Amino acid sequence: MSRPAANTMIVEAPAKVNLFLRVLGIRPDGFHELETLILPISLADQVEVHAAADPNFRTLSLSLDVSGEDELVRGVPRDEANLVMRAGLALAERTGVLGFADIALDKRIPPAAGLGGGSSDAAAALAALNELWECGLDGPSLREVGGSVGSDVPALMLGGPALARGRGEQVEVAAVCPLSLVVVTFPFGVSTPEAFRWWDEAGAPTGPEPGPLLEAARLGMERVAGSLFNDLEAPVVRRHPEIAEAKRSLLDGGALGAVMSGSGPTVFGVLAGPDARVDRRIEEEIVGLTGRPPAYVTAKGSRAR
Ligand code: C5P
Repeated sequence: MSRPAANTMIVEAPAKVNLFLRVLGIRPDGFHELETLILPISLADQVEVHAAADPNFRTLSLSLDVSGEDELVRGVPRDEANLVMRAGLALAERTGVLGFADIALDKRIPPAAGLGGGSSDAAAALAALNELWECGLDGPSLREVGGSVGSDVPALMLGGPALARGRGEQVEVAAVCPLSLVVVTFPFGVSTPEAFRWWDEAGAPTGPEPGPLLEAARLGMERVAGSLFNDLEAPVVRRHPEIAEAKRSLLDGGALGAVMSGSGPTVFGVLAGPDARVDRRIEEEIVGLTGRPPAYVTAKGSRAR
């Protein structure tokens, strides 16, 4: 059977950091109730989607190709364990669409890093497939499909800073000032379910009410830098003390504040402005600790809300 005429879309899938991550407790379904402020950053994967729907095309055919540096792509699944494939299947199931999609991921975001790479790839693929398959789902419906794929996916579909609640799927646009950040990644990953389990086992505490932090995030770098927190950080640091060392290095090197992102191990620091850098000596210390230099990124911010 010949394939229908297809179109191609190339979409950026930004990484995210969590300016705060508050774990309220475990729920009966095993997920944890959260409050978190998710901020897309300028580090991004590229997602190329070549696809078409065809009512005469009696099957649904999805393919995935993954490229990028060896170290980044080694652990990235090519099958249905990849959130991009799950996103395609979930959208097809929701809409009944038949056809095909060939998806190519160019990875630049480290996996299992707390940077939301897999979730953002899925968010980008859903937006592209909704267009190319002409599904016609509106934002909330498409985010509902995203939520069935992963807890971080709906927030990354908002296209800007997002306040997420529930298990992460209840999202609203948040007002956040533009930020300059330094990001330290590690040559190992942390599994999200494990990080949450460690929080449970430690009986770890819940961070402060986010009202003042949300106000600080709207107002400026200095204000927000002092109030960053992540309830998963202490239990993850207990297993990976390098995270605390990296955080200390960033603060010694001039970052205004620093915290672990998501379920880790990535640590980021807030800098005083777009041209700010941590000391050269500290950059070398970080290379010694992680085997890679820190990355300087920006977050656009949003005035909405
Ligand atoms: O939703 P997602 O597939 O990204 O979640 C991965 C795992 O992380 C879940 O299976 C669960 O163990 C844990 N998790 C959680 N509470 C959340 C989000 C994730 O316990 N709010």
